[in-house]
Amino acid sequence: MNEPRFYVTTPIPGPGLPLLRAAGSVHLPTEQPDATALRQACESGDYDVIVAQVKDHFDADLLSAAKIRGVSNFAVGYDNIDVAAATAHAVMIGNTPGVLTDATADVAMLLILAVGRRAVEADTLLRTGRFTGWRPDLLLGQDISGATLGLAGFGRIGRATARRALAFDMKVLFCPRPPGDRHVSDAELGEFAERVRQVGWEDLVAASDYLSLHVPLAEQTRHLVNAEVLRSMKPTAMLINTARGPVVDEQALITALKTNEIAGAGLDVYENEPRLAAGLAELPNTVLLPHIGSATVSVRAEMARLCAENAITMARGVVPPHPVNPEAWRN
Ligand code: NAP
Ligand code: GLV
Repeated sequence: MNEPRFYVTTPIPGPGLPLLRAAGSVHLPTEQPDATALRQACESGDYDVIVAQVKDHFDADLLSAAKIRGVSNFAVGYDNIDVAAATAHAVMIGNTPGVLTDATADVAMLLILAVGRRAVEADTLLRTGRFTGWRPDLLLGQDISGATLGLAGFGRIGRATARRALAFDMKVLFCPRPPGDRHVSDAELGEFAERVRQVGWEDLVAASDYLSLHVPLAEQTRHLVNAEVLRSMKPTAMLINTARGPVVDEQALITALKTNEIAGAGLDVYENEPRLAAGLAELPNTVLLPHIGSATVSVRAEMARLCAENAITMARGVVPPHPVNPEAWRN
């Protein structure tokens, strides 16, 4: 068998590159490839697997002309890849589930706390020399304990966020497949049985003090949170998004924040990353992070290991340890 050839769009940390180099040859472009360069790499026939990031887009057009065996995505989310087209063209996809669950749930909790207790406004006040001493009315926020957290999505990260919220004495509601309904049995709930309550999407939106999003970006979840949903939230409620930017209509969110339809937002992801919709950064009732959900040294190293293992197995024509579309292998 020929030596596997990997095209790595952006260097991956920890054991990632050493594992790939031990298994085959690694091409690292001098700069992050744009759409044209990525397409050329995929069409060239020079590479077996592309090791990609969420900002690398693989659409149906690119995939139809690609001469690659697989795409190993350095992420659990894979909305940057047209999965149906990849499957049709026998391009396998691998991702990195599980290892980033706790880190991302930590960031959801961090945003809940930071928005609820106005941490960024408080930090800014202090740093700009406007702290004149303790005052009974200085920067009053919202309670965390006793507040209702609504989880849109109750998979790995949704559950890990529930675990944290319960430790903060929050009431936890969830809707597993918003905006649709899917009943989750007590057996499936496991440790959460009788500690969290399943409700429909509309009830989740109306009841939440903090509404936190944990669904993948898909046709059904694009603009899941739109102007109508924002109008149905409590005026004191906060929106938390660590899922994907386009799950929220960012323009509608800005309007809702400006008109006090909701009280605040904590975001790690944006509709047109890395750009922010005009006006968002100027709103004081937001906490904005630059997509750092999984950004810890150890988590990124584990993601790199999974990503490399996926890439190496796919290059050998084998279904990877974490396949997104194992059926592509048959094609
Ligand atoms: P997961 O375990 O697969 O959970 C996904 C949840 O969404 C489940 O409740 C699932 O319902 C539901 N769901 C799946 N497809 C859906 C659809 N088409 N419409 C509505 N609901 C749907 O995923 P996870 O590991 O928790 O990750 C969730 C997302 O978080 C990822 O896809 C990624 O986009 C994002 N993420 C972001 C960061 C960051 O850095 N900010 C880091 C990691 C992940 P069922 O149980 O019924 O399937
Ligand atoms: C990051 O956003 C991921 O999906 O892993």
